[in-house]
Amino acid sequence: MGNIEVKAASVEPKTSVSFTLNGAPVDVQGVTPSITLNDWLRSQPGLTGTKKMCGEGGCGCCVVAVSLQSPVTQQETTFAINSCLCPLLSVEGWKITTVEGIGSSKAGFHPIQQRLAEYNGSQCGYCSPGFVMNMYSFLQQNPAPSAEQIADIFDGNICRCTGYRPILDAMTSFKAEKENGVIDIEEVQKKLCPRTGKACSNPRSTCTAPYLGPTRELVTPSAWYAPSSLADLFSIFSAHPESSVRLVAGDTGRGVFKNPPVADVYIDLKHIPDLYTSTLTEKSLLVGSAVPLSVLIGLLETNKNSSPSTFSQLAHHLSNIANLPVRNVGSWAGNLMLTHNYDFFPLRCLCSDGCCGSHSLYCHLVQYTVSVTVGFPHSGHEQIGDCVHGNSFCERRHCLS
Ligand SMILES: Cc1cc2nc3c(=O)[nH]c(=O)nc-3n(C[C@H](O)[C@H](O)[C@H](O)COP(=O)(O)OP(=O)(O)OC[C@H]3O[C@@H](n4cnc5c(N)ncnc54)[C@H](O)[C@@H]3O)c2cc1C
Ligand code: FES
Ligand code: FES
Repeated sequence: MGNIEVKAASVEPKTSVSFTLNGAPVDVQGVTPSITLNDWLRSQPGLTGTKKMCGEGGCGCCVVAVSLQSPVTQQETTFAINSCLCPLLSVEGWKITTVEGIGSSKAGFHPIQQRLAEYNGSQCGYCSPGFVMNMYSFLQQNPAPSAEQIADIFDGNICRCTGYRPILDAMTSFKAEKENGVIDIEEVQKKLCPRTGKACSNPRSTCTAPYLGPTRELVTPSAWYAPSSLADLFSIFSAHPESSVRLVAGDTGRGVFKNPPVADVYIDLKHIPDLYTSTLTEKSLLVGSAVPLSVLIGLLETNKNSSPSTFSQLAHHLSNIANLPVRNVGSWAGNLMLTHNYDFFPLRCLCSDGCCGSHSLYCHLVQYTVSVTVGFPHSGHEQIGDCVHGNSFCERRHCLS
């Protein structure tokens, strides 16, 4: 990456966001960093199907589907996220689908919703939209899943009343075995009108007025920046020498450490292509710091022959961290920084016997030959071996790869 040039601050703070919701363009003005996607969705008329319970990425009732061009693979990809952990300002350009966007009693239920009802997989129904949207997102990428793959994706969905057997039976009825045949995702996607039996293409209209709903804090003077290069990132640091700065990758850290102190400046890392690169050399993999854990798992599995003893094992360990919607946006660097920032990161305590029993990324990385590259304004970058406990990290240094 070479030396990182620091320019005069050229990036303006962001207070509006544009995205696509259930097929319709949305432009929201007057957004502050504390507003989550879930806050906004639930403040919109007719969009309360996306629920909120724990607010910390643990129950899955707030799951929605996100489609975007992966900055790592450049392919359009669809995945589930917890809307309760997702800052509204970070969804620029995303295509978001909520449970209302796939089916309803009026427009005709989606086959996943229908199957859940037929298998008695819903009682109070509070968890159902999350289960449905997690399954929907997964089927977009994996139209022919095995029963095991389906069971594995529900590590972040909790049901408090129905019991998991009927839910799992409903979901595994989508497995691609001979008796079911391979699912035609085009068919699954169709929203059939119960009256005409034909697909409905009428997207729900949404309110585009400035956001006036509740926020996490009543007053927040924070600024949100979305730089598109490392140079801009460091220029924002330079322009705010006295401010508290929080880098935002997946923002799932707030699910572990609730209500983190409000920062003066938030810097969204999602638009910096350098942080999403991945390069395979003879026996190593160089991965940008904003790469989500799910993508890292995929990269390790795809390239497992390059380092048979390491890559598959690490991928397996990583797949035990958190749950699928968290891994879909939570970056490996964010995970390390939580370990670095919080001495009492509870998950490290799981490491009872050196490393093996742990679900902590740090514990696994120290097992392998892993080094982290940290960027400094003006002076380029530096590789450090002990990626967390060295004193090389401080608030204003940035993990690159
Ligand atoms: C429900 C739940 C269960 C979880 N279970 C586990 C578990 O079992 N094991 C485990 O190890 N973890 C677990 N986690 C933690 C999870 O892995 C992290 O929340 C996630 O990896 C953080 O990544 P992020 O991109 O969301 O970081 P963010 O939340 O965006 O950032 C976290 C911190 O890292 C800093 N940061 C982010 N990117 C960089 C960067 N490139 N350079 C420097 N600083 C940076 C941020 O400023 C912030 O201080 C769990 C989380 C949740 C919500
Ligand atoms: S509300 Fe529980 S995961 Fe979002
Ligand atoms: S149906 Fe009531 S919580 Fe799942």
